[in-house]
Amino acid sequence: MITNETTEKFRKLKLPTPFYYYDLEVLKTTLDVIKKKASESGFKLHYAVKANHNPRILSLIASYGLGADCVSWNEIDAALKAGFRASEIVFAGVGKSDNEIINAIEADIFCFNCESIPEMEVINTFAARLGKKARIALRINPLVDAHTHKYITTGIAESKFGINTWELEEVLKKLTDMKNLELTGIHFHVGSQITRLSVFKTLCNHINELQEWFSVRNSELKIINVGGGLGINYDNPEELPRFDDYFSLIRKFVDLRPGQTIHAEPGRSIVGQCGSLISKVLYVKNGTNTKFVIIDAGMTDLIRPALYQAHHQIENLTSAGETENYDVVGPICESSDTFARYIELPETRRGDLIAIRSAGAYGEVMASRYNLRDLPQVVFSDEI
Ligand code: LLP
Repeated sequence: MITNETTEKFRKLKLPTPFYYYDLEVLKTTLDVIKKKASESGFKLHYAVKANHNPRILSLIASYGLGADCVSWNEIDAALKAGFRASEIVFAGVGKSDNEIINAIEADIFCFNCESIPEMEVINTFAARLGKKARIALRINPLVDAHTHKYITTGIAESKFGINTWELEEVLKKLTDMKNLELTGIHFHVGSQITRLSVFKTLCNHINELQEWFSVRNSELKIINVGGGLGINYDNPEELPRFDDYFSLIRKFVDLRPGQTIHAEPGRSIVGQCGSLISKVLYVKNGTNTKFVIIDAGMTDLIRPALYQAHHQIENLTSAGETENYDVVGPICESSDTFARYIELPETRRGDLIAIRSAGAYGEVMASRYNLRDLPQVVFSDEI
């Protein structure tokens, strides 16, 4: 919640807008809950660094004892610097470069989540050259529709992600010759912002079938990694994600075999609610059908509405007037630079402070310098 007291501080300190405001208490509460619920259900967590790699956020998450899920060497490096242990870092991605692979082998990370046979061959070659054995998990495309936006659906036939089940026989055959790879388990990630929990139940059923497939072939799997994807409630920025339902459902429906551990890679659900993008109203302008509130934050600061038609709750922090309907738009020369259409806000004027909520995940980290704009500033709750 952005209280009147916090708004007053924003005003008094004349903080330059736009900026990301991170409420560390919200992040700590979320981490307390996810840590407790995960350990009750026996989950090992790897925080998906791509959701937010701000160094302070990373260090706080590392201090809770989570591992990290990274998609580039730079993310691995940032995670190591923030205090994550190499032995708890997994490395995913369809296009790991040679240098990234070499660096990760040298850092002795926990596991590469492999997405293709050619990638396995390259990792094997470099591991051999370095005289090491690289641990890998196979990212499998389970063909499960995540029922979320098409750009963040990753486990269907058209997806570039994961190894298709029809190729697994070939994968196992090749693995017997790849002496510098050690297969530790299987990995999945079917999409992001998944709010229908039944999607995870379907995933569990596929995992159970695959487990059978591997055991018939005497292939031992120690790790079952279900990836990330748990959605948050963008309509209610104060609500914690449904961690309990999520972990219990997976534990109920996935048949773990003796000695196996279950891993997950939450990103958005950990950091989403702790961040807000704070912006100032530049102009209020009459349109043909609506009034435009033009704010000083744009799609360069938060691209989610423009890219995924994502909904974020918008609040006017400094007006308590009669409500009116407005389109809230940014200053960028693109029509998609629109945060919301025809929403109710209290009467809004130039200079008002606007909060775009639930922007802690895929917000600051996706900012760009398009139009040669400055990157957004960052303010933490304990700094004001
Ligand atoms: N694991 C893997 C392999 C992933 O690809 C992702 C996200 C995660 C874990 C974390 O998923 P989460 O728990 O955050 O849903 N920029 C988009 C989201 C892209 C997600 C990409 N992969 C957005 O703003 O909605």
